[in-house]
Amino acid sequence: MKTTEITVFASATVANVACGFDSLGFAINQPGDEVTMQRTDSGEVRVTAITGDNGRLPLEARKNTASVAVLTMMEELRRRGHEHAHAGFDMQVKKMMPLGSGLGSSAASSVAAIVAANTLLGEPFTREELLPFVMESEKIACGAAHADNVAPALLGGFVLVRSYDPLDVVQLHVPSDLWCAVVHPHIELLTEDARKVLKKNIRLDDAVVQWSNLAGLITGLMKEDYELIGRSLDDIIFEPVRSLLIPGFDAVKGEALASGALGCSISGSGPSIFALCRGEDKAREVGRAMVAAFEPYQLGTDLFVSQVNHQGPEIR
Ligand code: HSE
Repeated sequence: MKTTEITVFASATVANVACGFDSLGFAINQPGDEVTMQRTDSGEVRVTAITGDNGRLPLEARKNTASVAVLTMMEELRRRGHEHAHAGFDMQVKKMMPLGSGLGSSAASSVAAIVAANTLLGEPFTREELLPFVMESEKIACGAAHADNVAPALLGGFVLVRSYDPLDVVQLHVPSDLWCAVVHPHIELLTEDARKVLKKNIRLDDAVVQWSNLAGLITGLMKEDYELIGRSLDDIIFEPVRSLLIPGFDAVKGEALASGALGCSISGSGPSIFALCRGEDKAREVGRAMVAAFEPYQLGTDLFVSQVNHQGPEIR
């Protein structure tokens, strides 16, 4: 019997990873969003319910990031004259992660939706081919079609977006004992706003430092050289500006490093802060220290400790 309903979970992602603005990101195991989807004969893409968003996300298909990804995919199928080009979908989006958290919330919903729709159609596209469709959703969400959340959410693992035009995404090797602690303070920072504060031009000297660190980080991952990973986890261009939007950032980062993190920076556009660590025990210790450092700011926090999620979206 043909499957007509499916539920897909897609996970949170840490984008930028300090020195790799718009170029680097990795998936973690939790939190994430879930989309349940039915194939219909309506010829329409509809969002019939959203839970967990306190009524804040639009049901209108052209405005919701999850449905925009599917609409964009269907436009491409129509362009190709594909046999399923006029299929319809109803979807229910279950938000299980906060909006404006720096954990790739919009990416998780749109990736779960696109994988659900593609699976219901018998996979006309490979996972890589789905990437431009979910990038379109990011444009709706924050005005920029950046791929450093959607690529790892869709493909799993630790991903380098080497080029946007043409799109070229590279999976990176991850050392087996690399763990991440991510702390989400309960404030909201929209990526769109956190992009507006960035300078449009950067100094050549700063660019040299930044791309050398990016090369160092990737080399450290490939060589499983934890010290090199730690030395390279430094963002001298964006973090100094964006960290001003996160109460307690300096204290939290200071505690993470003092507790033995390899490095610590803003997750995506913030306000979440991540630290990479060697080993699970160290990641848990660092995570607890980061949570404690947030306490004087009375924000409330969530801590997630995870290895890199290599599995990618999960069909449930
Ligand atoms: N690279 C994006 C930014 C990630 O920093 O704006 C947003 O999560």
